[in-house]
Amino acid sequence: MTTKEFITANKDRFLSELFDWLRIPSVSADSKHKQDVRKAAEFLKEKLTAAGVDKVEINETKGHPIVYAEKIINPSLPTVLVYGHYDVQPPDPLNLWDSPPFEPVIRNEKIYARGACDDKGQVYMHVKAFEAMMKLDLLPCNIKFMVEGEEEVGSDNLGDFVKANKAKLKSDVILISDTALISLEHPSITTGLRGLSYMEVEVTGPNRDLHSGVYGGAVANPINVLCSMIESLHDKDGKVAIPGFYDKVAELTAAERTDLNKAPFNLDDYKKELGIDEIKGEKGYTTLERTGVRPTLDVNGIWGGYTGEGAKTVLPSKASAKISMRLVPNQVSAEITELFTKHFKAIAPPYVKVKVMAHHGGEPAVTPTNSDAYRAASKAFEEVFGKSPIPTRDGGSIPIVALFKKELELDTVLMGFGLDTDALHSPNEHYGVNNFLVGIETIVAFYKHYAKR
Ligand code: BES
Ligand code: MN
Ligand code: MN
Repeated sequence: MTTKEFITANKDRFLSELFDWLRIPSVSADSKHKQDVRKAAEFLKEKLTAAGVDKVEINETKGHPIVYAEKIINPSLPTVLVYGHYDVQPPDPLNLWDSPPFEPVIRNEKIYARGACDDKGQVYMHVKAFEAMMKLDLLPCNIKFMVEGEEEVGSDNLGDFVKANKAKLKSDVILISDTALISLEHPSITTGLRGLSYMEVEVTGPNRDLHSGVYGGAVANPINVLCSMIESLHDKDGKVAIPGFYDKVAELTAAERTDLNKAPFNLDDYKKELGIDEIKGEKGYTTLERTGVRPTLDVNGIWGGYTGEGAKTVLPSKASAKISMRLVPNQVSAEITELFTKHFKAIAPPYVKVKVMAHHGGEPAVTPTNSDAYRAASKAFEEVFGKSPIPTRDGGSIPIVALFKKELELDTVLMGFGLDTDALHSPNEHYGVNNFLVGIETIVAFYKHYAKR
């Protein structure tokens, strides 16, 4: 039986198992789901055991547990370490989902559920690829799994786990499916991810909420002030106006830029899919460059004053915002956090007080395209898709990639099968049934080519 035949024969079971996993609301950010996060870890443990690992553990951390498993067929063979996450983003706003986020359904050949693509669906491809290799006697090397439950909240405890378990995690390459393809027609391998500095700011004006008629016009309104401070964080060319922000940014050579822009991209389709008439970004760069290799600053949330039903005439005491910056090589998250903090305090006008807090961060990463593992991934895509994959730089962040390099001295291959349009972190997140099935096949092909090296 070929891998493809095995996948076809077991498709319904694979999907129904994945659906069972997706039904567990493993929302890491929400403490009321703490037990569900654990249940999702236990579910994975059970499925890895059934698929034939020698050993599987649920490792406790200060936060959510880390599932570790391994199948060592011969210590002298190479070892692939698969990383992924079983936690998911909160599903809100619930009213915008066409079907409930934790009741997976297939519509138009796509699985709709929170975590369908990011990252349970993609992790499950690895579990089923492993099962297929065990059943068909195709596993050509050792395999380890490390799947965490805190990726969506900054992987706070994974660093300590990696540092404390270097021997256990010893391997030759890291394999991750938690990124996107250009499309099923244009396969791609992600070769870079952006880093992150995530901040929260609070602007305080008067010592209490005021009647906006009695005081309005005479006392600074912290929401107005916060808005102008935020506005000033970009200049007229769309550059981030924080002194020193670009100091360490690695500029691409003309040849690298040409290469990056060879990836298929249609601006009209892009705008249409997003329902926008025009795009906006840093002057002098294309959309692919703006999301792939340029650093950015965005407000992720903003609040203050009255947002309930009807109207309340109030001049609020406080206004707040969550602001994140995406970083590129060779920016350093802690340094950018520091630059932001200094700058934001410096631009505060005398009529308000400003507090700046740092949430999580992560370093950008670039993965090599000249390694055995990259070549194996490339051949696997050629074999399954009939086309050689295009290297792309993704705008999202997986902070652990830089940490793996630093702590374990290991390179990562980012073999993701999602699509940018899969509505990650949004209502109606989905994952193509075909992406899931073809992903399993490509992963099995990866092992074959990697072990041949
Ligand atoms: N899987 C995503 C990252 C991603 C998405 C990479 C699409 C490439 C393409 C991951 O789960 C994620 O959402 N990461 C967070 C960072 C984290 C520190 C919260 C992100 O990018 O916002
Ligand atoms: Mn993810
Ligand atoms: Mn995510």
